[in-house]
Formats: sequence, C-alpha cells, structure tokens
Amino acid sequence: MIMDRYSVIIWPGELPPTRGQLIQQVRGIDGFLSLLTDRIDEELMDLIGPQLKVISNMAVGVDNIDLIAATARGIPVGNTPDVLTDATADQAFALMLAAARRFLEADRFLRAGKWITWSPSLLLGADFVDATLGIVGFGRIGRAIAKRALGFDMHVIFHDPSAGSEFNAQPVELDTLLRLSDFISINVPLTYETHHLVNAKFLSRMKSNAILVNTSRGGVVDQAALYDALISRKIFAAALDVTDPEPLPLDCPLLELENCIIMPHLGSASRRTREMMSLLAAENLIAGIEGKRLPNCVNPQVYS
Ligand code: DGY
Repeated sequence: MIMDRYSVIIWPGELPPTRGQLIQQVRGIDGFLSLLTDRIDEELMDLIGPQLKVISNMAVGVDNIDLIAATARGIPVGNTPDVLTDATADQAFALMLAAARRFLEADRFLRAGKWITWSPSLLLGADFVDATLGIVGFGRIGRAIAKRALGFDMHVIFHDPSAGSEFNAQPVELDTLLRLSDFISINVPLTYETHHLVNAKFLSRMKSNAILVNTSRGGVVDQAALYDALISRKIFAAALDVTDPEPLPLDCPLLELENCIIMPHLGSASRRTREMMSLLAAENLIAGIEGKRLPNCVNPQVYS
C-alpha cells in the first residue's frame, strides 16, 4: 500500500483543485499522481521544488503536462497505455453506431411523444457493411477500432505516417482519407501540430454523408467549424467523447444540434479499465519515488 510506505496527500474534493489549491498542496512533494484535469506546467514544477522525482498521470494522454519542461528537469512522466485501448475503441465504435443510427435523436423523438407510427422512412441512418472507415492516427486505439471494423465488414483506411498496416487497413494520404471515408475516427494525441486538425478545410473535404467521431482530445477539433459543418449538413453527423473545454458549457451551440452526440469524456470509463489505470499510475509513481525506471514512461530521454 502506498499509504503504508509514504506520507500521502490526497485531494479530497470532487472537483479538481484550483490552481491556487494545487500550489498550496504540492510544495515539497517527491511524486505527483495527476489526473488529466491537473495542468502541470513549468511554473508548477518549480513551485513543487527540485526534489520532485516523478509525475504519474492517470491517463494515456499527457497533454496536460509540459513534457519539455519535465524532461529538462530530468523528471520522468508516466502514463497508462494499453489498459484503456479496448474500452476507448469500444466507446468510439459505440459512438459511430449511435451517430449512424441516430440513437439519441430517436430516443428524444419517442420521449417527446412524436412516434405516431412505424414508417418506411422514419429516422433513417447510415449503413456499416461496405462503408469506408478512415482512421486518423493509427496507434493502439486506432488499430483496435480497425479490428472491430473488420467484424462489421467495413473497408478500413488510415492516415498515420509513422504507422504500419494491420487488420487489412490501407495507409492513405489525409486528403484521400477525407475524400473516401463514410466514417472518420480521430485518434491522434493533442499536440501543437494536431490542435484544430479538424478545421473548416478538413470538414469541407469530407463526404456529405460522413460521420466524424472524436475520442482523443477536444482540442483536435475546431468546434465552431464543426458546428457550421453540421448545421449546414455539409457532413451527416458527429459524435464527440471529448470537447474543449471540459466540461462543455451548456450554452455551447453544438448542444442544440440533433446530429451531434456529446459525451462527458468517458472513453476509458469501464470499471476494470479504471482499476487497471489506477494500478499502472501507482506503479509508475512508486518506481519514480524509489529512483527506478517507470514501467510506462513517455519521456525516456530522462534516463539517457
Ligand atoms: C486518457 O487516458 O488519455 C483518456 O482520455 C482518459 O479517458
């Protein structure tokens, strides 16, 4: 137990600590187990002090941490890969199905008392068999989505200059992917380069029947451009597991649209997955405090 071996401060609040609260709590700590809601930048690292030995993020994404600053200070940063791949791929697929078959819109329709009869053209959606799925970012989660798509008899193409092919998926240029895909799944990490990758130009190249699904980070999608594309039916629908900001303010125009599904960042939210993420995060934390190599380190340069 971590509590038996170390002196531990646990943030008790349901909401993440504010910047001020974080600063008060973290001065002098040796290890930091963070959530994706904690922004850990250069200033915070300096306030914590030079004794800081490890930052262990309970997430696979580490865009909340300034990796350059951590590496410059020799601080290893841990994350929780692999254990959430299947849960997140399931979520992406569920969102594809929900958007294609208009689940939430249909549920609202029924609850509003609008269902008066079965009709051949009631709430028609999109097919999966023979449809083309384009995956932007063919890492662990992108590949797990491709694997699921095989079972639905889809054609899978992907764009990722650093990845090889798997599960019959064909590598293509981004333009080709946008031109051919009926479904597009976004699976790139949020970086300076991928910020607003899905912008007005990206959306204008998609097919008018296409469905966009994002389970990576909200900042990859320009939400104002997405709103324009959805309201003018330039694309069929979108399903977002992640938004920018999070939580999404209730006055966000995207929430007015029938053809946009939005989830409160639940990609990895299955019981077993969250247990495994917690364990990995604890292992990274302990290894770092004890001066050992982290089992999952995103900046291994600190060891060279
Ligand atoms: C991650 O681990 O980065 C996920 O977004 C958490 O659900």
